Amino acid sequence: MAADPSLRDKMNALEQFTNQYEEKAKRGLVQQAVINIPVVVNVLYRTAAENISLAQIQSQIDVLNRDFNATNTDFNSYIPAAYANIKANVGVTFTLQTVVRKATNKRSWTTNDDMKRSSRGGINPTSPTNTLNIWVCTLSNSILGYAQFPGGSSATDGVVILNTAFGTTGSARAPFNLGRTGTHEVGHWVNLRHIWGDATCGNDQVADTPPHNTANYGCPAQGHRSTCTGTPEELWMNYMDYTDDRCMYMFSAGQKTRMLAVFAPGGPRASFNP
Ligand code: ARG
Ligand code: ZN
Ligand code: CA
Repeated sequence: MAADPSLRDKMNALEQFTNQYEEKAKRGLVQQAVINIPVVVNVLYRTAAENISLAQIQSQIDVLNRDFNATNTDFNSYIPAAYANIKANVGVTFTLQTVVRKATNKRSWTTNDDMKRSSRGGINPTSPTNTLNIWVCTLSNSILGYAQFPGGSSATDGVVILNTAFGTTGSARAPFNLGRTGTHEVGHWVNLRHIWGDATCGNDQVADTPPHNTANYGCPAQGHRSTCTGTPEELWMNYMDYTDDRCMYMFSAGQKTRMLAVFAPGGPRASFNP
């Protein structure tokens, strides 16, 4: 927002648009077929290990397809009874179009988007208005990944994922070797916020998810409660928390509606939904 002041207005407008979509959804007035997202994976490497295999890339695409269609094998793992009925099948599929590979002499990249710019040694996105671009590289400062929310510049649109937290095979390393960094980042890319709202008992703009004190790490105990209003059990198994990959396995119905709003006519990613 500091670099692009118009973004605040765009994000506020999208929040209003999303609220209207949610109202329509409540009244059963939206009907959505499965949306297919073409994906281009951009790999930046200095070492052979960083030049990840096609099998590792496909393993990440497979995780996205399972997690966004409720076919992940852990979908029926523990969830507090209060949320048993909000687990969602989002209905978005992902198809790998191409892999773009580029050698670099950079040891690591930061969150300044240089990996997305050939003028900075990176790789420009391919057709970003109708393709999800994923950059896979070595990131500094223990960052697992980051994403651009809807409404930003198409020149930098997409998600970035640390090569050792990408997919389920090859260089992927526990506890981030189940592809959930990809699921989490794509969640941001379709407008989901962190479940704790990036503040103490903050707001993620999703009605059916409970307030959390803060991010959860590792794998919290069953029944773990927040001290926020109502002391609800926390939904730490949600993809938009910070738990380990094996401890996140669901999106909520409210998150699904929020995501689908961006693909609706007039939404910022409508061009993905012809
Ligand atoms: N730090 C990243 C973000 O906020 C990703 C966290 C992913 N967590 C995981 N268990 N894979 O976007
Ligand atoms: Zn995040
Ligand atoms: Ca909420």
